[in-house]
Amino acid sequence: MTLDRRRFLRALGGLGVAAGVGVPLLSGVRGSASTGELLASRRPLPRPFTTRFRVPPVLVPTRSDADGDHYDIVQRPAIVEILPGVRTPIWGYNGRFPGPTIRSTSGRPVIVTHRNELPVPVVVHLHGGHTPPDHDGFPTDLLQPAGRTGSSRDYVYPLRQPAATLWYHDHRMDFTGPSVWRGLAGFHLVTDPHEQSLGLPSGDRDLPVMITDRSFDADGRLHYPSLDPTLRTPGVREPYGSGVLGDVVLVNGVPWPVAEIPAARHRLRLLNASNARRYRLVLDPPPPGGPALIQIGTDGGLLDQPVAHDAVELAPAQRFDVVVDFGRYRPGQQVDLRNEFGDRTTAAVMRFRITQAADDNSRIPDRLTGTPAPAPPVITRDLHFRHGTVHGMPGWTINGEPFHPDRSIADPRLGSTEIWRLSSDFHHPIHLHQASFRILGRGIGGPGPYDHGPKDTIDLRPAEQASILVTFDDYPGRYVLHCHNLEHEDMAMMGAFTITR
Ligand code: C2O
Ligand code: CU
Ligand code: CU
Repeated sequence: MTLDRRRFLRALGGLGVAAGVGVPLLSGVRGSASTGELLASRRPLPRPFTTRFRVPPVLVPTRSDADGDHYDIVQRPAIVEILPGVRTPIWGYNGRFPGPTIRSTSGRPVIVTHRNELPVPVVVHLHGGHTPPDHDGFPTDLLQPAGRTGSSRDYVYPLRQPAATLWYHDHRMDFTGPSVWRGLAGFHLVTDPHEQSLGLPSGDRDLPVMITDRSFDADGRLHYPSLDPTLRTPGVREPYGSGVLGDVVLVNGVPWPVAEIPAARHRLRLLNASNARRYRLVLDPPPPGGPALIQIGTDGGLLDQPVAHDAVELAPAQRFDVVVDFGRYRPGQQVDLRNEFGDRTTAAVMRFRITQAADDNSRIPDRLTGTPAPAPPVITRDLHFRHGTVHGMPGWTINGEPFHPDRSIADPRLGSTEIWRLSSDFHHPIHLHQASFRILGRGIGGPGPYDHGPKDTIDLRPAEQASILVTFDDYPGRYVLHCHNLEHEDMAMMGAFTITR
């Protein structure tokens, strides 16, 4: 890992550790791009905006009964076409990348039977789910490879939580980065009657947008710097321990796609499912007459009120649900979703081509939901996220310690609220399982423009301190918090915490 002192200082200076990537510091844009190193593809890449946008298929339940809706997913290797005319081996849920989308309703349980037909163990985590501990995907709760006992199990999700854009992905200790990179990620969208009553754009005007960066090898394989490509022993080659950045931007598994849409309001469920890359997304050209992106939701569900943005910044694992009124563009016009944190190939994300005028009876109410005030906090805890030594090797730590599955670093009480003060050296998107939180402030200031609403992941930037107000509801038991830069997570920036009775 090349986290030498010069680089460290450069990161603190706000220029990022993406040295060699040539990420320009945009004037007026606070902060740097991403903590990570560019892994360049070793083959020619397609021109952006030459492939068709697609939405991952919605999974059909195998049965529905008094217990809930039952689904089957097989995790298996597959060969798919990502770059036009190129065959790429992946690991996929039902052989797909992204995996199929599960759509569910608050309070109606979902039971997913996962069978592992991959050569290595896996763990399934529903990110953003309020899930009992045995079903949450603790990083050592392994689903064994095919042919061994324990290669299949049910994950039961009660989903006693409001409408939200969730996602599911692999969570095996030390191997989440390469497993997600190979394709183990999908959407899980929760709705509820309240959300349905709001009149937000729906049906084919409700578009999941999973953004990932990837690199490709000369032979079309996904390129990732694992020390052991069979994923039996952990680790990545230097200098990628700070994070792996790809040079191809995929939206729902398609490189820089084009979506043909009518001139009407659309809901975009933006998910940054990248290992380490951050994005600052804008529409180009911006629509006439005011902000392009009306944010209605985030990680944990709807905001109390819509928030208008010209740009949104997404750290890994974060979700921003935005409504764009494409009715402000002319039929025939092309509108690009661009990444202002990107450089060359990663500055483009996708394109919208406006087909025709269309009726639109959707709306964005001024008030989206109401959030009950949390109980007063009972304790303040400090957590420091830093580069450090992990079992004699460079790695990532929380309060100086690497992940130890059997050691809890916090033991909040069920039903209580706490203040957690988080501090960083580099970019660390910090994620808590189970508990959702509000961002109280950053440094000596209040919350930032992208901090609205119920969160499960905070975009902690270099040399920053932030306070969050966390409520520990629902279930007692052992969960994890970790950095969602997946290389940091795999290199031990994780802690167990136990919700006690
Ligand atoms: Cu998105 Cu612990 O994970
Ligand atoms: Cu999670
Ligand atoms: Cu990190």
